[in-house]
Amino acid sequence: MARILAIGIATLDIINSVSRYPDEDDEVRAVSQRLCRGGNATNTLVVLSQLGHTCHWGGVLADEPDANHIEADLLRHAINTDAVTRLNQGKVPTSYITHNLANGSRTIVHHRDLPEYRFAAFREIDLAPFDWLHFEGRNVAETLQMLLWARAQYPALPISIEIEKERPDIQQLFAHANLLLFSKPFALGRGHHHATGLLEAMRPLAPQAALVCTWGAAGAWAIDRHGQEEYSTSIAPSQVVDTLGAGDTFNAAMIDSQISGLSLGASLAAACHLAGHKCGYQGLDFILKGTVS
Ligand code: FRU
Repeated sequence: MARILAIGIATLDIINSVSRYPDEDDEVRAVSQRLCRGGNATNTLVVLSQLGHTCHWGGVLADEPDANHIEADLLRHAINTDAVTRLNQGKVPTSYITHNLANGSRTIVHHRDLPEYRFAAFREIDLAPFDWLHFEGRNVAETLQMLLWARAQYPALPISIEIEKERPDIQQLFAHANLLLFSKPFALGRGHHHATGLLEAMRPLAPQAALVCTWGAAGAWAIDRHGQEEYSTSIAPSQVVDTLGAGDTFNAAMIDSQISGLSLGASLAAACHLAGHKCGYQGLDFILKGTVS
């Protein structure tokens, strides 16, 4: 089992479950409401922790009551928070999520007003014990410094970066990863209506990396450093209950599989399998329940 450090966000997710997705200007009553910790990097760590890895998180928290909820959940999942920056002002990022019980979809309105994690904080982390670093592709200028620092100190330390959303100059990060995890919205935003189109277009920017792109129910594609393409179908559970965090689960399973030494194709299949399995359950605590083979 490995020691993994992830840099990214933790959020408070306020999730309203509704029996059908409302129309604009509608008024509907939620069937139920729950408050959870969310955020891509911490979601991925929560899954990795359940897979048996030792997980550390670097990110920002504000000193306010909602942060207690986040911290309690991280503690429950044994995620180390020594690298966290704690600010005595501000509000933790908050997502207002409409969860459609009819099909498991999640529609997210995200609000953030908190400074991003800084290189100055990252530089204080002793990277020596880690076997894998994972970054959210955000805050490009600071993240680039983190990547360069990590590479300069530990050139052999594997690095994955999630490229979920378009950000100015985000491609500056690509040359420093071993594994790049692209999303369908990112591909569509770049004008690619198929995952392989995006992967081919990104290859020259990251010839050293394995590239992966998820495409929802259509499955996921990958291409390795030698141009070898891989594909895996998505695996739907008998009933899609909740898709919130499915992408973060996919990323966790990719990292876990690569750490275990699986091939890129086998990793892709394992990641599709675990992400699909997660969709059959509410939240991220049940992903290891049922049959995962
Ligand atoms: C799911 C998620 C939520 C969070 C939002 C942040 O992938 O991490 O938990 O509210 O995305 O963008």
